[in-house]
Amino acid sequence: MSDSLAKELAKLLRENPLKEFPLMQAQKMTIKPSTIIKPKKGKNEWKLAALLPDTQIGYRVYEDGTVIEFHSEKAIDIALQILNYAHQQFGVDTVVNLGDTLDLPAQSRHHQEIAFQNSTNLAIQRGYEYLAAQRATVPDAEIVFLEGNHDCRIYKYLAENAPAVVNMRQAGSADSWPVNSLPHLLRMDELNITYASGYPAGEYWLNENLRCIHGDRVNSSGSTAMKYINSNHHVSVIYGHIHRIEMLYHTNHTSTGPGRNAAFSPGCLCRVDGSVPSVKGGITPNEKPVKYWENWQQGVGFAWYKDTGEFTLLSVPILDDWAVFMGQEFRTKLD
Ligand SMILES: [Fe+2]
Ligand SMILES: [Fe+2]
Repeated sequence: MSDSLAKELAKLLRENPLKEFPLMQAQKMTIKPSTIIKPKKGKNEWKLAALLPDTQIGYRVYEDGTVIEFHSEKAIDIALQILNYAHQQFGVDTVVNLGDTLDLPAQSRHHQEIAFQNSTNLAIQRGYEYLAAQRATVPDAEIVFLEGNHDCRIYKYLAENAPAVVNMRQAGSADSWPVNSLPHLLRMDELNITYASGYPAGEYWLNENLRCIHGDRVNSSGSTAMKYINSNHHVSVIYGHIHRIEMLYHTNHTSTGPGRNAAFSPGCLCRVDGSVPSVKGGITPNEKPVKYWENWQQGVGFAWYKDTGEFTLLSVPILDDWAVFMGQEFRTKLD
């Protein structure tokens, strides 16, 4: 309320408190834009985390040598462009791969297709290239690889079918990763990547309030974010697994003031057209995936966070072959 209007009302009330206020046309005034408090140079103790959700890197390999990918090369290309731009503009401190980076269908308990059988080494090579591209883009950042339910399929497959070989290591390297473990296969030590194992308990904390996990909850017809919010009002969660974009902020009434927490899923970087083996997907008799648009959304996320516990979250949807991040359009040149 303008000062002049407040004074006018006070005057009317003094004269006669019971008098009805007249309805008046708004007074014309000169409106000025808000004054911007000039931001200080630099990030002011804010750190930046890039959040890369489910790529499901995997292939169907056919007799004639052709392949069909599960991961979206276009979405991955756009995600890495945005990561590069964010690093050049602001400096990326942390990259969190939110799990299901590999799909590993040949080691699954689900239905097996012949086209899965020669796919694992291709996926390991592509997975390594994806991680190496991250390291080349952000040479000094902490890069975290959260283990998803798909990533631990090789371990589970061996533990159930050939437990005697699960822990085999190269001679002379007792402290190294087992040869069939994902950190070894993807050369994570050489890339200086932190492997957050132990799905579904595996986690990475950006600060005392903000936890990154792969996730083990899905509410297909509603909000998975609400499940996380309600499971622990004291912790905010960044999660993958559902392949959908969700963001929810929540406020609790507490004796000391508003208690806030948030839940955020940035989406996925896999194909969303039925190519990823799923509950709703299907194949033809020659094992070609049938076109089916999953209710999944491609995207990446960012978290600005401080060591003192504050954070704010940003969703960047990848819509078909483009995305807009901080006013900048990103497109892929891939067909
Ligand atoms: Fe998952
Ligand atoms: Fe997934």
